[in-house]
Amino acid sequence: MRGTGGTHAGEPAEMLLFASMRAEEPVQRGPETLMLRVGYPHVISAELLGGFPEGVELVPVPAKPESEIELDVWIPDFYPTHAQRAWPYLRGVKLVISLLAGTEWIPGTVGPHVTICNARGAHNVSTAEWTVAAILSLLKYFPFYMEIQREGVWKRRFEASQRYSDMTGDTRTFHPPVMLEELTGKTVLLVGYGEIGKEIERMLVPFSVEMLRVARTARSQPEVHAAGELESLLPRADVVVLILPSTPESKGLIGSRQLALLKQGALLVNAARGTIVENDALVEALKSGRIRAALDVFDPEPLPTGHPLWSCPNLLITPHVAASTPQFTPRALRVAAEELRRYMAGEPLRNVVQAAV
Ligand SMILES: NC(=O)c1ccc[n+]([C@@H]2O[C@H](COP(=O)([O-])OP(=O)(O)OC[C@H]3O[C@@H](n4cnc5c(N)ncnc54)[C@H](OP(=O)(O)O)[C@@H]3O)[C@@H](O)[C@H]2O)c1
Repeated sequence: MRGTGGTHAGEPAEMLLFASMRAEEPVQRGPETLMLRVGYPHVISAELLGGFPEGVELVPVPAKPESEIELDVWIPDFYPTHAQRAWPYLRGVKLVISLLAGTEWIPGTVGPHVTICNARGAHNVSTAEWTVAAILSLLKYFPFYMEIQREGVWKRRFEASQRYSDMTGDTRTFHPPVMLEELTGKTVLLVGYGEIGKEIERMLVPFSVEMLRVARTARSQPEVHAAGELESLLPRADVVVLILPSTPESKGLIGSRQLALLKQGALLVNAARGTIVENDALVEALKSGRIRAALDVFDPEPLPTGHPLWSCPNLLITPHVAASTPQFTPRALRVAAEELRRYMAGEPLRNVVQAAV
């Protein structure tokens, strides 16, 4: 078994739960109970792997295997490039359980004869918190105040008023001057109303925002608009949050026409996938000063050094980190463990994104 170390005071409850399960159920089991070989990214600490069902043999899969590895189930590395490097060495995989929500690279790698599940639900809290933090950071001008802090020049704070009027077109003189904005009362458009979209809404409710929602299909209670209505909703939004999967239909969903429909000063937040927004159109909209944006995801990733987005004004960039809290891995492994339990019990799987043909 890889990894060492016990649990510590202050560790999240779910980690402690795994630790206590480990004490009674060692990760490696005797040969008489070995039934299913499950490959996992070798970098995950063994102490996080204690929640898997009886009858599972956990096989660490290195980023660069040196020989073939026989598996029944594969939990791929979080980083597609690492996982794709390992795949040619894997034999016998019938089920892939991703620890991520976005699985767009997996079907093309493993082909149609393998069932693919994602870790739906495991990202809800961390990605929703990132989204709320990104919205508040930009409305409270935190990136600007960070600049001032680095320079140590207090009086630069008055530039905030100019930023406000340049961004929103509101040229009235306020006294005291405007130094930041409010989220309360704004209209937030969620593009994607699945697991994470609903969690973002739950976290935004205390700010008394008006919510608009778009998904593939329309429904009521709460009202969700169909994807075809997106363009009619964009002009109403102060904040647009993209939280939908990367698919052929969502590729380039936000281009120059959609950006032009946004209000002066609107905030675009992309917590989903880079392919959903057209880079050139976004760069142009940001440089014109019409909108602001917060992006966690890019196309391509990593965002190359010198890419025009790095130097755009009114843009907050985080390098695809939104889900990656210490609580995330145990939560995702718990989703994977439940899927494995169902697989072994012959029960329907919960999070199938591709059924094997
Ligand atoms: N930044 C990060 O670190 C991070 C972390 C986790 C997830 N993500 C991204 O977030 C995405 C959403 O995750 P989730 O767990 O919320 O997924 P989910 O539960 O499957 O929900 C997806 C939502 O998107 C909607 N949708 C799909 N295609 C659409 C389209 N073309 N136009 C409008 N709406 C569309 C779906 O509509 P219906 O409800 O009608 O089906 C659904 O409401 C993931 O696929 C992943 O790419 C990013």
